[in-house]
Amino acid sequence: MQIYRITGGRALCGRIRPAAAKNSVLPLLAATLLCSEPCRLRGVPRLADVDTSLRLLRAVGAEAAWQGGDILTKPTALLCGDIPPQLAGAMRSSVFYLAPLLLRCGRVTLPLPGGCRLGPRPVDIHLSGLAAMGARVEARAACVVLTRTAPLRGADITLRLPSVGATLTLMMAACGAVGTTVLRGAACEPEIADVAAFLNAAGAQIHGAGTPVLVVRGGRALRGAAHIPLPDRIAAATYAAAAATAGGQVTVEGCRPKHLAPFLQHLRAAGCAVETAPDSFTVLREPARRLRGGQELCTAAWPGFATDTAPLAAAVLLTADAPSRIYDALFENRFACAEGFAAMGARVGAKGRLLWLGGGGALHGAAVTAPDLRGGAALMVAALAARGTTQLTDPGCIARGYADLCADLRDLGAACAPEPC
Ligand code: EPU
Repeated sequence: MQIYRITGGRALCGRIRPAAAKNSVLPLLAATLLCSEPCRLRGVPRLADVDTSLRLLRAVGAEAAWQGGDILTKPTALLCGDIPPQLAGAMRSSVFYLAPLLLRCGRVTLPLPGGCRLGPRPVDIHLSGLAAMGARVEARAACVVLTRTAPLRGADITLRLPSVGATLTLMMAACGAVGTTVLRGAACEPEIADVAAFLNAAGAQIHGAGTPVLVVRGGRALRGAAHIPLPDRIAAATYAAAAATAGGQVTVEGCRPKHLAPFLQHLRAAGCAVETAPDSFTVLREPARRLRGGQELCTAAWPGFATDTAPLAAAVLLTADAPSRIYDALFENRFACAEGFAAMGARVGAKGRLLWLGGGGALHGAAVTAPDLRGGAALMVAALAARGTTQLTDPGCIARGYADLCADLRDLGAACAPEPC
């Protein structure tokens, strides 16, 4: 449990570089289990979910350790397919261990994965795809057990919807399957192409990653590889949102602006000046000028408006000059942060997947609680624009995706500090 005190009203100024993307690093760590030689992931942020992943890798018998800012993994001959319940329950990304452990051990037990409570998060697409490749799937009350008595075999699979996690699971499984797998209706998020680049560098043959049709020629032994994961587009959007709510001028460097183009477009529509270069962007907002509302945003799979940026967009539009609405098409409970926004004086209402933002008025400091990772970050961003001090209680959500968001914002000039425990 951590408490942050954020005093609003200070314009931000400076340059910042996002860390490597959480949503690349977590599947990459699982994918190292497919390799027969050591692997190195460079420049990995010290996130709570990374720590959980290292514990999970060690719990199943792999070697994984920090080496400065890198993570080095080493293969071991004996792996065990039982994922401990407390590690599975600590993050959604425990699901990424299904395919590698099924391939390596012939059997894997996954207790129910945890993660942010964004609504129901079934794993049926992962399971039906693995079943199509020859896995036997047994869903028990508190876990799922997968077994195989022969090597997995390539299959032609159409995903019922473009799930990021299921695309990664089936892409990993296909690398170890005999024959060719075609994944249709696959997710196209940049993190998928990033994991595919790592696997291809280790010897896999994955074509079409980042498009809706992936073709994987399986059965090749994977060596090791060193890989620099993508910069985190959601962290980049968080710094951009902070500049927009607090006002000032912030340059986010070492990132790929085209990976958050819809979010930057939303900031422009709200009245911010946004300049982009191939690997950086600058957000400029006059602190005295009210932001423009009247936005209707709807999240979608890549290349649409990313669901993870929806609470950040809400923080930006809270006190804009006209009402706005945001609909989350991916998750049923994306806007649990609405309660915190309301406590800060915003006119806001969440009903199911829809968030209504009344605009106008002003925010004031309040005692609020981070409901989930991105909702917690959005509350921190909103507090930068509030009069007075916000006390944000975080049961551990924000550290799952940002190594130290409070310090990042402080470096840009925000009055933001953790309370001593
Ligand atoms: N879905 C199913 N069945 C499945 C899989 C997914 O119905 O078998 C549904 C989900 O319930 C959801 C939709 O499909 O409604 C999209 O889920 P998806 O599988 O694409 O998401 P995910 O893999 O669980 C990843 C990120 C999320 C991000 C989403 C969408 C990781 C570790 N997590 O989740 O990131 O919101 O893709 O882009 O990669 C975060 O970083 O805070 C976060 C939640």
